[in-house]
Amino acid sequence: MKVLGIETSCDESAAAVVEDGRRVLANVIASQAELHGRYGGVVPEVASRQHLEALLPVIEATLAEARCAWRDIDAIAVTSGPGLVGALLVGVNVAKAIAYANDLPLIPVNHLEAHLYANWVDGGADPELPAVGMIVSGGHTDLVLMTGHGELRRLGRTRDDAAGEAFDKVARLLGLGFPGGPAIERAAAGVSPGGIGLPRAWLGESDDVSFSGLKTAVLHVVRGERGPPPATERTAAAFQEAVVDVLATKAAKAAEREGARTLLLSGGVAANGELRRVLAERATVPLRVPPPALCTDNGVMVAACAYFRSKTAGIDLDVTPNLPVA
Ligand code: KG4
Ligand code: ZN
Repeated sequence: MKVLGIETSCDESAAAVVEDGRRVLANVIASQAELHGRYGGVVPEVASRQHLEALLPVIEATLAEARCAWRDIDAIAVTSGPGLVGALLVGVNVAKAIAYANDLPLIPVNHLEAHLYANWVDGGADPELPAVGMIVSGGHTDLVLMTGHGELRRLGRTRDDAAGEAFDKVARLLGLGFPGGPAIERAAAGVSPGGIGLPRAWLGESDDVSFSGLKTAVLHVVRGERGPPPATERTAAAFQEAVVDVLATKAAKAAEREGARTLLLSGGVAANGELRRVLAERATVPLRVPPPALCTDNGVMVAACAYFRSKTAGIDLDVTPNLPVA
């Protein structure tokens, strides 16, 4: 079964063709990062307009790369939320139109659930369930227990900023540009945070996380309220170390406690090399992490998720603001 997956929830216009949820036949991503960089963050209306311009050419390029005609495609999948409403509407309406025109089933996909499915493609054997998944993106940070396809229970979430949002805000504070995650990782590469002690919000035994206190602590360091401000690179390294410490500790602990057979890392922040390295060290159950290019937003994960969810998903589309958890 060949599924065309469409993703427009934030600032990537993306499409992909995936066969049987596992084999990537084409993957095309038009990123708007440069455009939004000028404003220091994603501007929702700019994103919607850009999706309008980019999406159809991206879909055409995807079909060409997959060497597929419409008659070779078995279903259309599209991210229906969460995300920027105007941006989602572009993808959803394009998907509706091409599904109608080509008489194909249309499968709505939850963006956060889709992130987990980047671990099912081109990776050999399917991840074994039950799994604990950590979804760390620009808008969400969720720890979930996955017992089957479409069977998710939330174990924890951020109480304030998402992990990616914290990277983006701190990068801005440090004058490192947008998107902040890759900028901080580059600045921190090979740098020791030395004596910059930044706080970790452990929140007791909870699976929740919190990054707003850490963000404020970085602000105090930058303003020189704790002595002469250290070099930007050292502050970036100290911040990254603190975020990675908390995320890796909580994910590893939850996977062990829940008796998970796999730990799944996913979402844009999963592209972070330090997080991947430290989590691999601390995980006591087999860890799956997608290649960095499939951690950030893409159409592959949407198509893969739709394939595994196609038995339970309907074709009625609406915009959903959250993770579909019990
Ligand atoms: O999943 P994603 O592409 O979009 C959302 O669903 O939000 O995640 C984007 C987020 C941004 O906040 C970005 O700064 C962060 O992922 N990110 C990273 C890295 N690459 C992207 N954070 C840390 N290290 C990275 N290498
Ligand atoms: Zn995402």
